[in-house]
Parts: sequence; C-alpha cells; structure tokens
Amino acid sequence: MLSWEELEKNCMECRNCQLCQTRTNVVFGVGPRDADIMFIGEGPGEQEDLQGEPFVGAAGKLLDDMMSIIDLGRHNSYIANIVKCRPPHNRDPEPEEQDACIGYLRNQVALIKPKIIVCLGRVAAKRIIDPEFRITKQHGTWDQRGGIWMTAIYHPSALLRDASKRPETFDDLIFIRKKIRELKLRILDADGNRVY
Ligand code: URA
Repeated sequence: MLSWEELEKNCMECRNCQLCQTRTNVVFGVGPRDADIMFIGEGPGEQEDLQGEPFVGAAGKLLDDMMSIIDLGRHNSYIANIVKCRPPHNRDPEPEEQDACIGYLRNQVALIKPKIIVCLGRVAAKRIIDPEFRITKQHGTWDQRGGIWMTAIYHPSALLRDASKRPETFDDLIFIRKKIRELKLRILDADGNRVY
C-alpha cells in the first residue's frame, strides 16, 4: 500500500491506459482522508476533466443535494471514481481501463478505511459489490465485506434523465441514514458540530 503522497503522485502521472491521451486532468478524489463514508462514481465527465474534481457538473449538483438530505457533504464524505480519467464522450469505462485504474481506488479505500461505501450507479456497483449486480433490482440493498458496509443507489445522471426514479432513491438515502445511526458513526457538519 502506498502513502497518500506516493499514491497521488503516481496517479497524477499515470499512463496505464489510453484515457491518459485524452484527459485534461486526472480526477483523484476529494474529501477528508479519514471519512467514514465514501461515494464512488464511474468516471469523470467533461466538467470534472476540466476542473480536476469529481462530481462538479450537473450530476454533481444533484449529488450534493442528495447528500445534504441526510446531512452529508464534501466536508464529511470522500468522493472518488472507478476510473480517474474521463472516458471520451462520457462512454462507460472499458473493463481494461477499469482494471488499469482500480488499484488506485483500492489504495484509497485502504488508507481511508471507510465504514460505508455508497456506489453511484451500475458501473461502480458491478465493479465494487458484485459483477452480476442489477441496479434496478438491488439498489438500496446492503452487503458487508472486509468490515465495510456497501450499498448502491442510482447514479445522479440517471436521476436527471428519469425523475421517476427519485422517490426510490430518497428511500435509499434514508436507509443510508439508518445505517449511519446503527453503526453509531460520528459525522460532523461543516462547522465541526456533530450531526450524527
Ligand atoms: N459521473 C461520475 O460517475 N463521476 C463524476 O465524477 C462525474 C460524473
């Protein structure tokens, strides 16, 4: 396992797959490096590639709103992606691209030691929870592995495309809140006051 400094340096200089040829910025991840909760998306889009930060475009605004419903935000949760460089035209990252990149995420998880991982959408859920994961049927279900509770919710981009999925996602968020309480996690707001 690499230290944060080595990991970030390697990731920023990475040329392990073809996505390095078209990226503007590597999107490493943001948030406290000791967060109890991680949100994991699939890969940077256009805005993320330009700004070097995950979930800063339209889907990111919705993710911020979703997180704030249960008092979560970038100040108390770590946000990262399966692949750190933008797949051209926002296509799904290819399996070889995921394979080339997943070590960075594994190292991030090993350093952060989160108690809960929330996968955002199908690509992350298949890669992290189960290759056979069906997001339409299994969103909001929980698995525990290596001491980490894992769940998946619809990707905010899917909720922008299809608002009819939003009520189910609201329920899933409430279950995340329930899990945070069950696990007695200590989560702070942006001012350092305890919200859980
Ligand atoms: N979609 C993702 O999966 N990740 C981002 O960072 C932005 C959009």
